[in-house]
Amino acid sequence: MTDPAIFAQVDGYIAGLLAPEDEALHYATAGILAAGYPDASISPVQGKLLQVLAAACQARRILELGTFGAYSTIWLAGALPEDGRLITLECDAAFAALAQHNVNHAGLGHKVEIRQGIALHLLQTMIDGGEAPFDLFFIDADKPPYTEYFRMALQLARPGSIIICDNVIRNGNVLDPASEDEKVQGVRRLNAFLADCREVTATILQVVGSKEYDGMVVAVVNP
Ligand code: DHB
Ligand code: MG
Repeated sequence: MTDPAIFAQVDGYIAGLLAPEDEALHYATAGILAAGYPDASISPVQGKLLQVLAAACQARRILELGTFGAYSTIWLAGALPEDGRLITLECDAAFAALAQHNVNHAGLGHKVEIRQGIALHLLQTMIDGGEAPFDLFFIDADKPPYTEYFRMALQLARPGSIIICDNVIRNGNVLDPASEDEKVQGVRRLNAFLADCREVTATILQVVGSKEYDGMVVAVVNP
């Protein structure tokens, strides 16, 4: 069995080559930790993956669910053209305030709009209001409604849109159908939904590295 320490070392190797953090990303993480919040942001290598996928679909409009401290927001916005837009939804007012501070510090205030509120409500308002489709979605909010978030994202997508969902393996606890952890139940429900969903072509990447063992859904909306 490979020593798990190698995963963190190799993650650092990859990040050093291909995903170095700029000052704005360091600043965002420092602010998250200084506020006493957990280091629950994605890793630099995952941030770079989001940029690769944004480039692959030539993203001009990105929707993120779950802003937290805007660490992933900064990575995603970095892949947008100058006139591109990112809307990010956050229910926690303190997280939204910290995120706004970090986005402004990154010089991305003109591209990023943080909407504070209940994601299910904000999404329904966007659907009812005929919002233009988004090219890329990053779902990283609370886990129990992940399936509802995904279904609503489909209503705001176009053929070729990419949908990414964080934290769908949860240290391997998704293998336990009897898990009473509502987060595990939430992502298991999404993963099962994807197995039968004809609207997307999807897979799940296991994520090992500097953070917890987890996984990400990568899906593309079918023509
Ligand atoms: C949790 C949520 C996240 O988005 C994450 O990246 C890690 C953990 C959580 O709620 O446990
Ligand atoms: Mg996450």
